[in-house]
Amino acid sequence: MAETKTQPWWKNAVVYQIYPRSFQDSNGDGIGDIPGIIRRLPYLEELGIDAVWLSPVCRSPQDDNGYDISDYQDIDPMFGTLEDMEQLIAEAKKHHIRIIMDLVLNHTSDEHRWFLEAKKGKNNPYHDYYVWRDGEEGTYPNDMKATFGGPAWEWVPELGQYYFHQFSVKQPDLNWENPKVRREIYDMILWWMKKGVGGFRLDVIDQIAKEPDRGITNNGPRLHEFLRELSRETFQKGDLITVGEAWGANAENAKLYSAPDGSEFSMVFQFEHMVMDQKEEKWDLAPLPFVKLKKDLAKWQTELYGVGWNSLFLNNHDLPRIVSRWGDDGKYRKESAKMLATMLHGMQGTPYIYQGEELGMTNVRFPDIADYRDIESLNMYKERMAAGYKEEDVMESIYAKGRDNARTPMQWDASKNAGFTEGTPWIGVNPNYTEINAEAEKKDPDSVFHYYQKLIRLRKEYPVFLDGKFELLLPEDGQIFAYTRTDEDAALLVCVNFTGEDASWSMPEEFRGARTLIHNYPGEGPEGTLRPYEAFMLYKKK
Ligand code: NOJ
Repeated sequence: MAETKTQPWWKNAVVYQIYPRSFQDSNGDGIGDIPGIIRRLPYLEELGIDAVWLSPVCRSPQDDNGYDISDYQDIDPMFGTLEDMEQLIAEAKKHHIRIIMDLVLNHTSDEHRWFLEAKKGKNNPYHDYYVWRDGEEGTYPNDMKATFGGPAWEWVPELGQYYFHQFSVKQPDLNWENPKVRREIYDMILWWMKKGVGGFRLDVIDQIAKEPDRGITNNGPRLHEFLRELSRETFQKGDLITVGEAWGANAENAKLYSAPDGSEFSMVFQFEHMVMDQKEEKWDLAPLPFVKLKKDLAKWQTELYGVGWNSLFLNNHDLPRIVSRWGDDGKYRKESAKMLATMLHGMQGTPYIYQGEELGMTNVRFPDIADYRDIESLNMYKERMAAGYKEEDVMESIYAKGRDNARTPMQWDASKNAGFTEGTPWIGVNPNYTEINAEAEKKDPDSVFHYYQKLIRLRKEYPVFLDGKFELLLPEDGQIFAYTRTDEDAALLVCVNFTGEDASWSMPEEFRGARTLIHNYPGEGPEGTLRPYEAFMLYKKK
């Protein structure tokens, strides 16, 4: 990969994810909204990001915080209006920021017009937009389970049929086998493209080609056929970034998803690295196998080099805060937040920053289950309590893995409700906002915020971040994550101590005397022992 000029814009971009209901409220109803986002555009420009991925803002009953859409072509009143959305796209452009929308195409809300029609009768033209099976009440078509608990089938007595839902009962799965469904979706996407959006994130996109009779959810046989058609009919008519969420992605199929010819998407979110510290179920924790993590990330870097493209992320609205998960959110909060960012941002791919990550925001421990809002956590709590688990164990799982960890309001300043709202926030603010907030971070030259700002700048300044070939150093070391990136002109060394203990390190010969690009302790990148969570990058011209 020599010619950086011919690379698509998104290979050099850094994306910032906004969870709109928790970002900035503008009207005092306790829920973040689009005018609130517009107000914070200067902050995002200052951070240096190129695009914002907005979690869903379309009309929705909010059973799953907007991932249950009842109208793809309207904005939910709690977030604003279609005009607000158009204004956001226009204003963001002035700040050199593109807006990426979240497309939820695997399912709709059960309050979507299509589903309301579909339920009216087997001969209704919309009936076949969803996945139905005849049956008898109480005898499910099979034993498939929904991600948010319970069976994946819901009985509709008027029809004498079950519909299929991989998520909540209020999220019926769309039937992608039906070409009319696909056409409706393409027309809707083209409509958003005309409004000037910069790209799309595609929710659980590897689950659209399900075959429930064979128990298939992810990676169904027709998946890539559908994706190529989707891309041809829509994305390829614009200059967009597209990223598919694919829990079932592996390094092999990721080459299809992110093929450089653009036949599917720009890239996918894959989760191999995000499920290593759990047992079968996400709630059952396991220690992070650090050496395995390094080898896994290295595999993705190597496998996709020149034939695909990686997304780089450690956080999103479904995941706990990484500084609490793999770092230390106490004594070494700043050091470890910076360490994790260094480890990630040196790699090849497009980095995604989740709101508040750039402040080193942490997980939260609310005392009572009544303080929690997420359907997934609440359902799990009910199921496990009924199954006889101890409440404190159930709460520990939520503290460690619950999605609300990432969904507490953005911490803007030390004023009431962290400057998020004048009203009562829809979910509690993390009490540590008096210390951890954007205002304090911006004042402190040594803050996590300024470190992220610098990492973003470095990627744009040095082409080796874009095209350098990856090599993992010290693969078996149990504390240090170190790698190099090398292209025709330069070499980069990224080295971090992943632990809260000193780690012994000896500088590779070729990097002695190289320039320190960034370092989370004062001074040059060290030649000997690394301090707790110490992290740095060195650069050498050839
Ligand atoms: C993945 C989204 O990220 C998550 O928040 C949502 O609950 C499910 N897909 C269902 O749409």
